Amino acid sequence: MTQRRILVLFAHPSLERSEINSELLPAAQAHPSTTVVDLYAEYPDYRIDIDREQRRLCEHDVVMFLFPLFWYSTPALLKEWQDLVLEHGFAYGSEGRALAGKYFIAACSAGGAGYAYDAEGYNRFTLRELLRPLEQTANLCHMRYLPPFALFSSRTALKEGRLAAHREAFVGLLDQLSQGSLEDWERSEACTVNDSLTPGDSKGVAPS
Ligand SMILES: Cc1cc2nc3c(=O)[nH]c(=O)nc-3n(C[C@H](O)[C@H](O)[C@H](O)COP(=O)(O)O)c2cc1C
Repeated sequence: MTQRRILVLFAHPSLERSEINSELLPAAQAHPSTTVVDLYAEYPDYRIDIDREQRRLCEHDVVMFLFPLFWYSTPALLKEWQDLVLEHGFAYGSEGRALAGKYFIAACSAGGAGYAYDAEGYNRFTLRELLRPLEQTANLCHMRYLPPFALFSSRTALKEGRLAAHREAFVGLLDQLSQGSLEDWERSEACTVNDSLTPGDSKGVAPS
């Protein structure tokens, strides 16, 4: 099978203070199957080049959003990107089929612990449930949605020694996205996660 090309849309508004996503960005850039767009570096004034972004989408098979979770959603510039780039007649609507059949995945880090993202936990919903707007956006755009890849308890991951395993799992995820069979994974409900409940034990490897 030919390798899938992955478009990584990276969004972090203060990269100089990041511990997690600043590690994943170079890992994504070094991967042979990716094109990485650092949105805040490229569009500090929020003036997104819609034609260029739509061309990039057309040239790739997988679209990944890579971001820290902000208020159960994406950072603002990544929302702006969605608002502007996913146009009617391009991404959705009776004529809008440019993204049909492409895969979509959200890869994010969350400050909250995994157990908080549960009906019984203080966030009341799972991460997959909270990211439903992304899931339905992908759906409306005829894309194939994959469950999110997440690091929970992100603010203690570095000092607990979980970051290296997460970086490795992230590279494994990119390998899987570029070469692997994604059908079973697409059907599964579960997120692939790395959490502090089991320190040192990375559960972030994508299913093979
Ligand atoms: C404005 C803002 C909103 C945030 N909202 C959430 C949230 O809704 N849920 C959560 O678990 N963490 C939240 N966090 C924590 C971030 O997700 C966390 O700081 C980030 O994953 C760490 O990644 P980094 O080291 O790359 O910055 C928020 C942080 C900020 C600054």
